[in-house]
Amino acid sequence: DSFASVMLGLGSYAPELRLTNEELCQRIDTSDEWIVSRTGIRERRIASADETTSDLALSAARDALADAEVASEEIDLVVVATITPDMAFPSTACRLQHKLGLRNVCCFDLEAACSGFVYALDVADGLLRSGRYRKALVVGAEKLSSIIDWEDRSTCVLFGDGAGAVVLGLDGEGPRLEGFLCGADGANPSLLCQPAGGADKPASEETLRHREHFLKMNGREIFKNAVRVMEYAGRTLLDRHGLTPEDIDHVIPHQANARIVEGLSQRLSMPIEKFYCNLEKYGNTSAASIPLAMDEARQAGLFKPDELGLLVAFGAGLTWASALIRF
Ligand code: ACO
Repeated sequence: DSFASVMLGLGSYAPELRLTNEELCQRIDTSDEWIVSRTGIRERRIASADETTSDLALSAARDALADAEVASEEIDLVVVATITPDMAFPSTACRLQHKLGLRNVCCFDLEAACSGFVYALDVADGLLRSGRYRKALVVGAEKLSSIIDWEDRSTCVLFGDGAGAVVLGLDGEGPRLEGFLCGADGANPSLLCQPAGGADKPASEETLRHREHFLKMNGREIFKNAVRVMEYAGRTLLDRHGLTPEDIDHVIPHQANARIVEGLSQRLSMPIEKFYCNLEKYGNTSAASIPLAMDEARQAGLFKPDELGLLVAFGAGLTWASALIRF
């Protein structure tokens, strides 16, 4: 409809340091062959010790503002999707606001794990349409290396750090957000979680000893659920808009695992060539993964005017989310 939010600008940032599969082999009992065949990941980026999630967010945000040719003072809403906030509170969005030099703007973090960026787009789009805000900065940023257990080979090979951002407005030139679907099923939180450090299990010597401040995952169960809920999120959104998979030109899926993307391609009966993947270079960057992939694909000139894109994500929660974009 004529009242859809427009992506006025896009930006992304990945830390310089590359951690390759070969380097991981020197730390833990694994192999390049195992990691590549099970996940498709070859390397990931790791933020430096003094680089926090809000710093990654800042670089991506500046990139998006420059791309949009929007002055930072025009932004009146800042939403940061992350599961690795600088601190439990205050929000990473408030820290980002300060680093950008913004005043009197609405700032908050949104936590929906790897679905976080698409959730944040949906929320920001709704707030813009309400008329209460004019221009939003929506960021997905993660320093997952800060919650990874580097002794757990079943998880540490999968994740990386990064950030992506968009500037959203109600008028102007750019890809239009034409529809959203967000959902969740909170029945099995332990499938993928950070058990300790919150109100449920405050930090103690015992939680430290059991390494419960690190990310824990049941990979096999998450894998099965991921393909199922991403198919649901994609198909349901298409149905609601009277579209079929053939109408979609590009899918930008959450970049968790190449086999999950292949499974989704089969279940949606959409050729794998329509799926944009850069996970071999970055691993799973959670809330940053979709904007990082979308920005890279756009810079490669992949999106042509009037083409239709589908964003589709799943994450801890379990959460899922999808969005339609008219380029
Ligand atoms: N190197 C070598 N061997 C390993 C490694 C490793 N890095 N990790 C696990 N193994 C071993 C296991 O110990 C197991 O050995 P065993 O059979 O002797 O016990 C064997 O490999 C097979 O393990 P599985 O877990 O069955 O392997 P699977 O084929 O399921 O692949 C993987 C594991 C890659 C984790 C897969 O399950 C997966 O991708 N799951 C989804 C993960 C995901 O996407 N998470 C992100 C969620 S998004 C968010 O919100 C953060």
